[in-house]
Amino acid sequence: MRRERDQNDDFPPAMQQRQSLNDRAFTGSDIRADILGKYGFEGDLLDIYVTGSDQLVHKWHHYLPLYDRYFAAWRNRPLRFLEIGVFKGGSLSMWRKYFGPDAVLFGIDIDPACAAYDGIAGQVRIGSQDDPDFLRAVVGEMGGVDVVLDDGSHVMEHIRKSFEVLFPLVTSGGTYMVEDLHSAYWRRYGGGYRRAENFFNFVREMTDDLHEWYHDHGLRHEALSKHCTGIHVHDSICVFDRGERIAPTHSRVGG
Ligand SMILES: C[S@@+](CC[C@H](N)C(=O)[O-])C[C@H]1O[C@@H](n2cnc3c(N)ncnc32)[C@H](O)[C@@H]1O
Repeated sequence: MRRERDQNDDFPPAMQQRQSLNDRAFTGSDIRADILGKYGFEGDLLDIYVTGSDQLVHKWHHYLPLYDRYFAAWRNRPLRFLEIGVFKGGSLSMWRKYFGPDAVLFGIDIDPACAAYDGIAGQVRIGSQDDPDFLRAVVGEMGGVDVVLDDGSHVMEHIRKSFEVLFPLVTSGGTYMVEDLHSAYWRRYGGGYRRAENFFNFVREMTDDLHEWYHDHGLRHEALSKHCTGIHVHDSICVFDRGERIAPTHSRVGG
């Protein structure tokens, strides 16, 4: 299997993507039963997803429980949520139903056609996720940001650039999620198995920084890692917790 995958990395990029996606498409008729059966997940987000909306939304089934795990605490609060990647507006509509009327929802997309979704479930701004000035301007307009979800180009360089600009702007206690990170293994997206640009190499360096107390190699990404209190890696999803990192202490009790 591993050999097959390594060879797959040398296939033409479009074929890599098509193969992996087609192999994994759900072909049954009951999405709810599939998600409940595989992940034991049910609840509002599943209801919202399976009920569908006027706009297309396309999600990997294992993302739904992960969204709920990391985002549930923000529901029905004046959350400021920024999604990179609007496409047909379906996810913004899903987030509106999930987070409630008090949430400030912004979506950004490079495709001018996405402006058609502005003002429906949330605000839409047109620009590129690798444009720092644009990203800062959007967050300024939002009045700050608590949660970022990167579902944009999935290109390694873009994911890194957005993270470098936006993670420092996330409020303490906030969350930064990147999805569809299978692209980290695809050359078309600037990734590749064990290639330096693979986003998980950056995750590894952030993980080393998180453990700065236990080695003497210094911080690789000080400006980012000083305010990162946790990193969660799942299949194709990585979540970074924003907060003040505190030097650990330990003690012994009893005995
Ligand atoms: C996977 S779709 C987003 C889907 C949407 N979040 C959903 O779940 O329905 C990715 C979107 O990212 C946009 N995109 C591609 N490159 C981008 C970039 N450099 N900056 C911002 N958006 C980009 C595409 O135009 C596309 O609409």
